[in-house]
Amino acid sequence: MDADAMIAVFMREQERGVELADAATNLEELEAARTAVLGRKAPFAEAQKQLGSLGEDERRRVGQVANEARRALQATFDDRRAAFEAQAEDALLASDGVDLSLPGRRPRPGSLHPLTLVEHEVVDTFVRLGFRVVEGPEIEDDWHNFQALNIPPDHPARTMKDSLYVAIPGHPELLLRTETSAAQIRTMQAQQPPIYIVSPGRVYRRETSDATHLAVFHQVECLVVDDGITFADLKGTLEVMARSLFGANRRVRLGPAYFPFVEPGAEVGVSCFRCDGVGCRVCGNGWIELLGAGMVHPQVLENCGYDSERYTGFAFGMGIERVAMLKYGIPDMRMLLEGDVRFLRQFQGVA
Ligand code: PHE
Repeated sequence: MDADAMIAVFMREQERGVELADAATNLEELEAARTAVLGRKAPFAEAQKQLGSLGEDERRRVGQVANEARRALQATFDDRRAAFEAQAEDALLASDGVDLSLPGRRPRPGSLHPLTLVEHEVVDTFVRLGFRVVEGPEIEDDWHNFQALNIPPDHPARTMKDSLYVAIPGHPELLLRTETSAAQIRTMQAQQPPIYIVSPGRVYRRETSDATHLAVFHQVECLVVDDGITFADLKGTLEVMARSLFGANRRVRLGPAYFPFVEPGAEVGVSCFRCDGVGCRVCGNGWIELLGAGMVHPQVLENCGYDSERYTGFAFGMGIERVAMLKYGIPDMRMLLEGDVRFLRQFQGVA
């Protein structure tokens, strides 16, 4: 092959390469075309192999033509490849695309249960006053739930609350606690005064549920034992709590009541948050009876190893369900158990 014949091959192949590259419709076809034109056995390469047979000047001249043609071809194939790749990416983006004009899917966050809301509110109030939060076990023994609270085995107060006993072999006297007051005993056993605690939790009674009773419900207990604690401290503390739960203008009244573990014992009423004590359909006579309270019975202090001549204290226990019903106008206590989202949704954003 002489120099002109070689140049003719290079020019022809360059032209053919451009045509093939243009004709390719995808990356595989393009790659096949590239091999056909620039492969080791393609006419281009075969002609290039002949360069050695030329004289030095001719070889340089023809070699330059070959190099330029090869470079141009390579660029043609590279450009075409880049175009196919861009096209593929566009197609992927289009098929994978997000339509920003579609309406969004609103996330549906849950909300705290009304009982949790009330419990938090009460506990937060006491934490602000410097009280500690303690939790007791839900399965108690007879001593903590009854005897230490001044309710001996034959005491009539045991019949005021029907209890649910737990059958665990070897532990004949275990029951589901009937009130959070047992937490008082455990706290006093564990430390000396001063004691300022609140203890929220679940309690159990053998009771048929109705609009105002549940067999499983919640209380929050408060206990203070220190030097010189008086009935006035109890009333002041109750006022702080009543106002934080039901508004700044609430008044608190105490009437006589009997609980074996306090003396004197009191039933605590709060002036109605709706009519402010005038009388309405929420309260009837202007007052809402809210909880039981009293000065810790000296016998209870002694049962826990405290010197009842030195220390005095007060305690109260409040039903959380009852507070939730009053605060949120819930007509039936059982709604708090049903888990109906239409009911629960209404507490979204309350706290
Ligand atoms: N534990 C009592 C109840 O469940 C309430 C209470 C607590 C009363 C503390 C006085 C003092 O009814």
